[in-house]
Amino acid sequence: MEKKRSNFSSKLGFVLAAAGSAVGLGNLWRFPYLAAKYGGGIFLLVYLVLAITFGFALMITEVAIGRKTRLSAIGAFKKLDKKFGFIGIVASLVPVIIVPYYCIIGGWVTKYLGVFLTGGAKAASADDYFTGFITKPGEPLIWFVVFLLLTAGVVLVGVQKGIEKASKIIMPCLLVLTIGITVYGLFQPGAMDGVLYYLKPDFSRLSGTTVLAAMGQLFYSMSLAMGIMITYGSYMQTEDHLESSVRQIEIFDTVIAFLAGLMIIPAVFAFSGGDAAALGKGPSLMFVTLPKVFDSMAFGNVIGAVFFIMVLFAALTSAISLLETVVSIIHDKWGIERRKGTVIITLLIMLVGAPISLGFGVLDFIAPLGMSLLDFFDFISNSILMPIVAFLTCIFVGFVMKPKIITDEVEKNGKFKAKGYYSVIIKFIAPVCLIAILVFSILEALGMIVV
Ligand code: TRP
Repeated sequence: MEKKRSNFSSKLGFVLAAAGSAVGLGNLWRFPYLAAKYGGGIFLLVYLVLAITFGFALMITEVAIGRKTRLSAIGAFKKLDKKFGFIGIVASLVPVIIVPYYCIIGGWVTKYLGVFLTGGAKAASADDYFTGFITKPGEPLIWFVVFLLLTAGVVLVGVQKGIEKASKIIMPCLLVLTIGITVYGLFQPGAMDGVLYYLKPDFSRLSGTTVLAAMGQLFYSMSLAMGIMITYGSYMQTEDHLESSVRQIEIFDTVIAFLAGLMIIPAVFAFSGGDAAALGKGPSLMFVTLPKVFDSMAFGNVIGAVFFIMVLFAALTSAISLLETVVSIIHDKWGIERRKGTVIITLLIMLVGAPISLGFGVLDFIAPLGMSLLDFFDFISNSILMPIVAFLTCIFVGFVMKPKIITDEVEKNGKFKAKGYYSVIIKFIAPVCLIAILVFSILEALGMIVV
């Protein structure tokens, strides 16, 4: 009895820690704007299908690799097979690319918290408020640095534990508040059209880009194809049930993303007077629509402030683990000591982040592939590197190591219910689909096919 209880609590610890890293701006900011942009219901459907196939298989694989080798990505692949150590290195590039622009969005969240704390709901609800803000040269930079220093400060002072404990209380509160805002939004005139758009798939909008976007989002949101889950797996106890832990993390992450979409998309319909162009707003969606919702509420300033402080916490816990990951990568690779590493990386993030932040204003003439710098970095990591890492991982596990190495690890503590299903996905379905989608979307990005 005693043993069983402690097993349960340690498994819960693993699930909560992994979910804390997984749930962040990806769910609250990125998912809703992509769903809005790529056709609503069809994006949601593709996302769910990918989550129970690719997402499940890949997360099982990564956690099992970590638990088996007890190493993080770079070392883990090398230990399994010397020739394939490079997969770990490519995977490690992904968090390096994500971290600067993650902190820029974190900066936007911090700014909005400041706005609502100072009673600015009315001003923030104006149509061009957000664009006015991000195109300024100085202000977004300052908020980016504030958020970055908050993150780095936590890592340096080593108070993660405190932040993580707090987030275990704050995350459920965020969930409750999100549901509350959703319900309020659904009662606004016009919102039902939005619900329909979000839930009813329109198959005419199914394209390679939609699938690629959904897949990139899946990887991003669940912190897959970048070595993170390998690291988490390396801390997992062998007695814990791997398959059901992975299921729980996936369900948790997906529910939060789904709700964030349900909160924002119907509100876009209600507050834009049915203007479809509002759906394509991209990264700004959360910052344009939600302020309008808050402004229309009684006590909007208070509710807005509470909301953004919670989002800030979710963003901080993810940013902290991103920064830590990068620091530990340079530690493993070059032996740079933690504190020094944190300072160096923080300075580098400032250097790389500054042009990305300015990319909406003074540097907006730099538009690779017609994207803003932020979208471009996001595209490189999520739509190019992550599918490549995922593909290599599938080939490596499916044909070099053989799936048995993973299924044996999963079965160390009980049955692997989806074993046959897992092997087929990892060997055949996932690699073929990944290549097809990747080729298609590169052609599309280069303008060689038009959809
Ligand atoms: N999954 C996180 C989110 O949804 C973002 C993220 C991507 C992340 N890579 C990470 C978080 C690595 C921690 C570590 O916001």
